[in-house]
Amino acid sequence: MKNNSKNLNKKYILQIIEKYQTPLWIYDSNIIKDRILQLKKFDSIRFAQKACSNIHILKFMKENNVKVDAVSEGEIERAIYAGYNPEKDIVFTSDLFESNKLIKKIVSLNITVNIGSINMLEQLGKLSLGHKIWLRINPKFGYGHNEKTNTGGENSKHGIWNIQKSLYYIKKYKFKLVGIHMHIGSGINFNNLKKVCKKMIETIFNFKQKIKFISTGGGLSIPYKLNEKKFNVDNFFNIWDKTRKKISQYIGNPIKLEIEPGRFLVAESGILVSKVRSIKKMGKKKYTLVNVGFNELIRPVLYSSYHHISIIKRNKEKSKKMEKTIIGGPLCESGDIFTQTKKKMISHRLLPKLDIGDYVIFHDTGAYGASMSSNYNSRPLIPEILIENKKFRIIRKRQTFKEMLMLEKI
Ligand code: LLP
Repeated sequence: MKNNSKNLNKKYILQIIEKYQTPLWIYDSNIIKDRILQLKKFDSIRFAQKACSNIHILKFMKENNVKVDAVSEGEIERAIYAGYNPEKDIVFTSDLFESNKLIKKIVSLNITVNIGSINMLEQLGKLSLGHKIWLRINPKFGYGHNEKTNTGGENSKHGIWNIQKSLYYIKKYKFKLVGIHMHIGSGINFNNLKKVCKKMIETIFNFKQKIKFISTGGGLSIPYKLNEKKFNVDNFFNIWDKTRKKISQYIGNPIKLEIEPGRFLVAESGILVSKVRSIKKMGKKKYTLVNVGFNELIRPVLYSSYHHISIIKRNKEKSKKMEKTIIGGPLCESGDIFTQTKKKMISHRLLPKLDIGDYVIFHDTGAYGASMSSNYNSRPLIPEILIENKKFRIIRKRQTFKEMLMLEKI
């Protein structure tokens, strides 16, 4: 068991399984709370809800004074349902408005927009003079734990390339500029953080517009492997704080610092609990197949991401023998393998010997787990359970087949 929480222990997990059966997601709110507190030096924390958008998680964030980012109309709906005030608490971040209907909704709710393209300025300005905006700048370089999560440079579609081009529209439509935002990718590297901060200073000095905020974006990493170090929040804050002070001096008014993490706030709070249903020998290789697939947890397949795996024996005995096994799911696709690495799709893990009926736990799946899951192979969405105040409760029901087929019954 990865020892990151008092609540995510064997006894508790078995109680939850007994009540709700496998497979399911479990989140521990104590861990989320702890991560929020670690960021308390920032003037504003905004949760990138794409990491875990369950409305009960959003409510928890709100209760703890965390604001929210929305990247789609659906995420706006979720934030409002969770009780967020659209005008004060929500920022819509995108590189496009998917429809005119969406722009009208944003205008009528007075939601601040974090603008990622010049077209957005024009489309928004025409409908809403003086709208509140941020500008999301692409600093022309980026970093990610995978090339798919690097959001800077010309291999990324994100952000405004040339900030000067926005000036014409800012004047024309009298936009109220709240701040400048720079999210360069998921998985911050301290080597290039100073470069990012330098770029932020340069951008604001050249742009010469009054602002109140700068946003660091998100991208804070977490230790997925047991031997990985924790993210150094203080170091991150100090580097940005110095940047803020320089900008503040130059502009002549105080600048507030906002941070916009997804993963850091929720990843370690979550586990995915599955059950062993089949054990097969294929030539020299051993496959242990569990009742979740990449339709539940796609990160290993999409980015070759590592998730720590621990086990709970069904009959509570301790398994002494260790063995190498490949862990896969039920999907009708050879790539439905959780233990793949960057180099090899069919790769194994060394785990205590598993038998049919044992439980396999995927750790640190609170971010980009449930929120990226799908109905592939017509598998219904699985329940989410939240542990709060030493009690657990269901925060998303298991989807029924009826619900899954409903939209197609025409
Ligand atoms: N702000 C913006 C504008 C973003 O695009 C993102 C993530 C974040 C904040 C939050 O990033 P975080 O703190 O979670 O790294 N599915 C991938 C991650 C994709 C992130 C997309 N944007 C994964 O599972 O690793």
